[in-house]
Amino acid sequence: MTQISAAHTPAPQQANDSSKALYGGKSNRRVTVRDLIAAKERGEKWPMLTAYDAMTASVFDEAGVPVLLVGDSMGNCHLGYDTTVPVTLDEMTMLSAAVVRGTSRALVIGDLPFGSYQEGPVQALRSATRLVKEAGVGAVKLEGGERSLAQTELLVQSGIPVMSHLGLTPQSVNTMGYRVQGRGDEDAHRLVRDAKAAEAAGAFAVVLELVPAELAAEVTRSLHIPTVGIGAGAACDAQVLVYTDMMGLTPGKMPRFVKQYADLRAQMVSAARAFSEDVVGGTFPEESHTFH
Ligand code: KIV
Repeated sequence: MTQISAAHTPAPQQANDSSKALYGGKSNRRVTVRDLIAAKERGEKWPMLTAYDAMTASVFDEAGVPVLLVGDSMGNCHLGYDTTVPVTLDEMTMLSAAVVRGTSRALVIGDLPFGSYQEGPVQALRSATRLVKEAGVGAVKLEGGERSLAQTELLVQSGIPVMSHLGLTPQSVNTMGYRVQGRGDEDAHRLVRDAKAAEAAGAFAVVLELVPAELAAEVTRSLHIPTVGIGAGAACDAQVLVYTDMMGLTPGKMPRFVKQYADLRAQMVSAARAFSEDVVGGTFPEESHTFH
């Protein structure tokens, strides 16, 4: 059973109907999970970026990025934690609300943080309800396939769209570490089973993180719902990157799957130094910045 019944799924579009495209299309209304499934039917790929505040979210909305994930990567990228594990539901709710306020078109997905859904479906529903009601997200994401099935089912039955996260699941860093998942027959079969279970439970999409490209391609072919790859090769229906990585804000060496599209950290350091030198040297403010 998929979450979107045939009766509610828009008729498949022609491949050349670019006005309906998720990226670069003409629609100004907010993107929905039904649009993502329709895009897979059209064979259209789409981008997703993380965002953690209203200003950055508004930039990505202006750029036309159709889906924004308020990822629990905010732990490492925004809140100064070492991992995603300490992120709380209060933090997630506050930053998700900011991202929703900063956007008018993107579908905003809020991550369920570690400890906010593992106890069982009722806890998951309580946590997801906060993200939907208080923050206004259009969907939530949780980690795990078969191990989170009951949670996914109850959320979907309750009207909350769910994105599953498989492969490397950073909330399990203490047991799993950070390494490619799904290598070897047994692990690969488990990942395919997890993906099919997530789809059967009603998930509208599956994130595949750090998975061999061939396996991600097989999962993508075998599902009706879209796969969103991060370090999972080019065959996935969509691709996601953590925005601080692709914008060059994250310090240090980037993982191999990151492509850096800007060098914002160097630009910001240089701008902050220029401002500081102007202040110390007395060349800012100038007459044009001054009121009399
Ligand atoms: O938290 C996050 O940013 C994520 C993406 C890497 C998919 O889960």
